[in-house]
Amino acid sequence: MIIGAGRVGATTAQILAYRDICDIVLVNRTEGTAKGIALDIKESSPLEGFDSDIMGTSDFREIRGSDIVVLTAGVPRKEGMSRDELLNTNVNVVKPMCQQIKRYAPDCKLIVLTNPLDAMVYLAKKVTGFPKERVVGMAGILDSARFRTFIAETLKVSVTSVSGIVLGGHGDSMVPLPNNAFVNGIPIKELIGKGTIDKIIERTRNGGAEIIGLEKDSSAFYAPASSLVAMIESMLNDRKEVLPCAAYLDGEYGIKGIFMGVPVVLGSKGVEKVVELKLTRDESAAMKASADKVRALAKQVDALL
Ligand SMILES: NC(=O)c1ccc[n+]([C@@H]2O[C@H](COP(=O)([O-])OP(=O)(O)OC[C@H]3O[C@@H](n4cnc5c(N)ncnc54)[C@H](O)[C@@H]3O)[C@@H](O)[C@H]2O)c1
Repeated sequence: MIIGAGRVGATTAQILAYRDICDIVLVNRTEGTAKGIALDIKESSPLEGFDSDIMGTSDFREIRGSDIVVLTAGVPRKEGMSRDELLNTNVNVVKPMCQQIKRYAPDCKLIVLTNPLDAMVYLAKKVTGFPKERVVGMAGILDSARFRTFIAETLKVSVTSVSGIVLGGHGDSMVPLPNNAFVNGIPIKELIGKGTIDKIIERTRNGGAEIIGLEKDSSAFYAPASSLVAMIESMLNDRKEVLPCAAYLDGEYGIKGIFMGVPVVLGSKGVEKVVELKLTRDESAAMKASADKVRALAKQVDALL
């Protein structure tokens, strides 16, 4: 079930259909949009060779029995805006939708995409009352994919040889970890000078803004959709991949009561484990600073509920 047939929602539906791994229901406030996109994707099935069923609707009752619900509805930012400026607007979109999710799909695993991500996933947990394993946000996979892309581009090597991870909140305070980035086991610090690594980190932090700056009337949606599909596949197939996601922290990394980007094991039960990396003193301080920013946003959500 994908709620919101906007750019990210529709692209996620398309990739999922092409992978032929599940049936898909696309929900949108305008029924024609959801139905039209679903039909368009379905008509590519003879060419792409998939049998997944895909339907569009505006009726939330259709989410009954959904194993995984992906919430993409909400306003994206425009050029010059921060994600945090969307908070008031998107609380009013996400809150009623979470009430519907609680009502019609009380056993689902819920993946939130809407920005400001760490605040919206916190809101989703509060409104649904779902256990922490079943509510998770998508951001770290995207930020890490950007980090890996820029490393591969700099070194002119295949991106499949590059591993790297970005933790923390999905915003300016995100915490890329150059000490944990490798090219087939070789630390990037042995291959790239500090000045260039710093530039890669800065570009990763501004990854979303860079795309809005280029496109003007759209924020990123291809890489966000691919990131959602990575989470969905790991849950559907119980692959237990270790992926950076916004998970509810209950003391891990010394942080409690908020959602933040950390490596987690994603399986059929949802967030099955938060993996605790050993961080340097500077990295721990950056995580703490990021947590302070996310906590301030969570307080704003509390005040609006
Ligand atoms: N977490 C991430 O890394 C990440 C990445 C990309 C986008 N996003 C966020 O995801 C959200 C969607 O992005 P997009 O590019 O698909 O946007 P979009 O404008 O293409 O689509 C927005 C969707 O939300 C729905 N919507 C908007 N206002 C609504 C309302 N009041 N009631 C019901 N539905 C409403 C629209 O109908 C549409 O389906 C944005 O908040 C964006 O910032 C997050």
